Amino acid sequence: MKARATASPNIALVKYWGKRDSQLKLPLNDSISVTLAGDFQSRTTVEFSEDYAQDSLLLDGVEASEKEMQNSFLVLDYLRKLAAVDFRASVVSQNTFPKGVGIASSSSGYAALAAAASAALGLKPDARQLSIAARLGSGSASRSIIGGFAHWKAGSMDDGSDSFAVQIADENHWPELRIVTAITSAEPKIIGSTEGMKRTVETSALFRQRLSTIPAKVEGIRQAILGKNMHSLLPAVMAESNSLHAVMLDSWPPIIYLNDTSKRIIAAVHELNDASGEIIAGYTFDAGPNAHILTEQKYLHEVEKAIKGEGVKSLHVSRPGEGSRIL
Ligand code: PMV
Repeated sequence: MKARATASPNIALVKYWGKRDSQLKLPLNDSISVTLAGDFQSRTTVEFSEDYAQDSLLLDGVEASEKEMQNSFLVLDYLRKLAAVDFRASVVSQNTFPKGVGIASSSSGYAALAAAASAALGLKPDARQLSIAARLGSGSASRSIIGGFAHWKAGSMDDGSDSFAVQIADENHWPELRIVTAITSAEPKIIGSTEGMKRTVETSALFRQRLSTIPAKVEGIRQAILGKNMHSLLPAVMAESNSLHAVMLDSWPPIIYLNDTSKRIIAAVHELNDASGEIIAGYTFDAGPNAHILTEQKYLHEVEKAIKGEGVKSLHVSRPGEGSRIL
């Protein structure tokens, strides 16, 4: 009972920040993302056997942390129940990310785990079940099951059965789109997303206001993706990222993920758009200082030129990519 799967990280265009159930990782709002193709992948092998006394998890050759074990256990157990099997699992996961680039691997990691474990158990889950299983590992992983553009619906059920990602458009929908990741720091996060979200929900008054703006943003961004409309997508994506980082700063004690280079990139993108007389680039930042800049192939050179410079450690260009798959 063994299988191997791969998944890629996704970058949120409408951000997930705040849970209504921390164990089941049910979000307070819908989110939208693009799954990346290219440099970054998690490849995971799962083997179930009656010979194993407990689940074990090796990540890039190192034994997983307590928290990673707990989250993986939630994924494995959900699938064991579906398969009505009680064997323990050995999980070995490898990231193809260039070393020390500071890219978070939780979205690809738990998506690859869910895909490999379900195949090893002989399950044939639909995308909904796989997305739910991955979500139990980390919320954002629910979207890496899906190729291209994903919409994770928050849902309203207490058991999370209506909280999963669906596809807006596949990876071939917008072939000219590029996501330029600018690494500005390879340091570990100052505060993990779980703890950061909790602090924001508990202490930020601005967070309520943010939640009220999400339904209109989700619809606007979904339409912009379907219409491949850079001019409406990019300003909305930048404003959404700024809204996320505003509620982080409004938390107490404040959470500040952006560094000086991140802020310089924000200014450089606005300057580039102003100088071009149209919107050709749009930034978005997750819970960290690395920038993800959306643009189209024809503007790639200009965008790279504008953001390169002091503080940018490396640039990685991705296209929209496939969802999780069995190897
Ligand atoms: O799923 P987590 O716990 O890694 O949280 C992801 C949070 C953000 O990356 C900031 C936003 C998102 O929607 O991916």
